[in-house]
Amino acid sequence: MKLLEEKILRDGVAVNENILKVDSFINHQVDPELMIALGNELAEHFKDHGVTKIATIESSGIAPALACAMALGVPMIILKKQPSKTLNSDLYQTIVTSYTKGTSYELTLSSKYITADDHVLIIDDFLANGEAATGALRLIRKAHATIAGIGILIEKSFQPGREKLISQGIDVYSLARIKKMDKDYIEFCED
Ligand code: G4P
Repeated sequence: MKLLEEKILRDGVAVNENILKVDSFINHQVDPELMIALGNELAEHFKDHGVTKIATIESSGIAPALACAMALGVPMIILKKQPSKTLNSDLYQTIVTSYTKGTSYELTLSSKYITADDHVLIIDDFLANGEAATGALRLIRKAHATIAGIGILIEKSFQPGREKLISQGIDVYSLARIKKMDKDYIEFCED
C-alpha cells in the first residue's frame, strides 16, 4: 500500500460518505516529512514533463506544492483567494465556487509570475468536484501559459473532478484515490 494511503487509514477520519478529515497531517497540523515524501512522489511522476513553475491554491496546497517545487527545482506560485492590498495591478482573476464548502472566492494571479513561456504544474491537496482546479486552469490559460498536469494528494474518485479534468486532456496524477467512503470506512481505487 502507498505511503499516503497508509497515513489516511491510520490518521484520517471518514466523517460520512463525502468528507474525509485530514486535519492532523494536511489541513491544520502539517506533517513535514510526509509532505517532502509526497512532493518527491509528485515530482517523480512529472519530472520529464518540462515543468517551469508549480501553481497551487492557498492554503492547504502550499505544503505539498513547495516540496514538489523543491524537488523539480522550479518556483512555486500561490494562487490567492483574496486580492491583497499590495497585489493590485495586472491581475488575472476568476470566480471559483466550491460545492464542498458552499463558498465562492475570486482566485487571483499577478501577471508577473506566470507568462506565455511557462509550462505549469498545478498541485492541490484535494480533488472533489474539481472547481478549484478548473479555476486554476482558467487563470493559467489567461496568462497564455501551458498546462503540464495536475498533481493531487487525495482524490475522491466518486466525485466528478477527475472526469472533468481528464476530458480536457489534462494529465491528472493523484497519490491516493478514494473509491468509496462512509463513516469510519475508506476504500481506495486499485491502480
Ligand atoms: P469542490 O469543487 O467540491 O469545491 O471541490 P474542490 O476539489 O474544488 O475542493 C474545494 C475545497 O474543499 C478545497 O479546499 C478542498 O481541499 C476541500 N475539500 C473537498 N473535499 C474535501 C474533503 O473530503 N475533506 C477535506 N478536508 N477537504 C475537502 P479549499 O477551499 O481550497 O481550502 P484550503 O483547505 O486549501 O484552504
